[in-house]
Amino acid sequence: MTSNFAFEQPFLPSSICYLNGHFCPLNEAKISVLDRGFIFGDGVYEVVPIYFGKPFRFEHHMRRLAGSLKELRILNPFSNQEWLEIIQELVLRFAKSHCQELHQTNQVVYLQISRGVAPRDHIMTQGASPTVFMMTNPFKSVPMQSRQNGVCCVSAQDFRWEKAHIKTTSLLGSVLSRQISADLDAAETIMFRGDHLSEGSSSNVWIVKDGVLCAPPKDNLVLEGIRYGLIEEICEDINIPFVMRKISRDEVFNADEVLLSSATKEVVAVAKIDEKLVGEHTSHSGQPGPIYHLIYKSYQSNIERVCNSQTTNKSNF
Ligand code: PDD
Repeated sequence: MTSNFAFEQPFLPSSICYLNGHFCPLNEAKISVLDRGFIFGDGVYEVVPIYFGKPFRFEHHMRRLAGSLKELRILNPFSNQEWLEIIQELVLRFAKSHCQELHQTNQVVYLQISRGVAPRDHIMTQGASPTVFMMTNPFKSVPMQSRQNGVCCVSAQDFRWEKAHIKTTSLLGSVLSRQISADLDAAETIMFRGDHLSEGSSSNVWIVKDGVLCAPPKDNLVLEGIRYGLIEEICEDINIPFVMRKISRDEVFNADEVLLSSATKEVVAVAKIDEKLVGEHTSHSGQPGPIYHLIYKSYQSNIERVCNSQTTNKSNF
């Protein structure tokens, strides 16, 4: 029996992906309806940016992936070297199919691992072989207007669970949270647990006060973004004082600057939260501030230094 409703299917690209040992077009890749990723969201993922054909902070992404898999008691199906080889192959095939030279391609690779296929049962299935899926997209830089002017955000209660440190594919909390800002045409939802800042629906949130960059503690209530460590390193390099501590709602709304970071956003300034201009008491009211400019510049030099070298020395990753 067919449905009376005619839905217009979203367009699925035919670009290359990797599924359980094989490369195939994305719109032809299929997994079982009994995959625990589909039934329970029982899986983890990583988002690895690729600059000039090379993964950026690869080892850090692998360490976080290993941590997420361990929390779910899923055996890591590959060594870091094997992950690297598959990522490189995927990136190369994608570049070729888009007529790009490897050293000119910027992409974002998604690694998704579920516990695998098994009869439905909440108990963690023993012996299922993990489903491994990887796809890649062109790296879409933050639009120039948002770079120059900053982005508008809204605030909301963080109604997600208490294991936000796991990069899990169970993302309904994040989807509902992001939709709050999407409905208001804003770029991100900044979440609070009670009176304290946690993070964005898909990014970490930072504030600047009196020249000091502050981030919420790396605990179970936030995902430790790979940019956490990177921005810490940048602060050390360019002498920006950095502290990690609980940050109240008042501090966010009265900050001199507010920043977001993620693999795809890199680091971006927040111009407005809930109609209140960020840093309205400063000379850069509602505009990206000086600390943002310094960090963004260093971030870009870091990418250049690490990825845009002619060598393929693995230690560069
Ligand atoms: N999101 N916090 C949450 C909830 C996230 O989903 C992300 C990343 C981050 C930043 O992590 P990183 O610096 O490693 O990108 C923080 C990715 C980009 C996503 O799910 O698409």
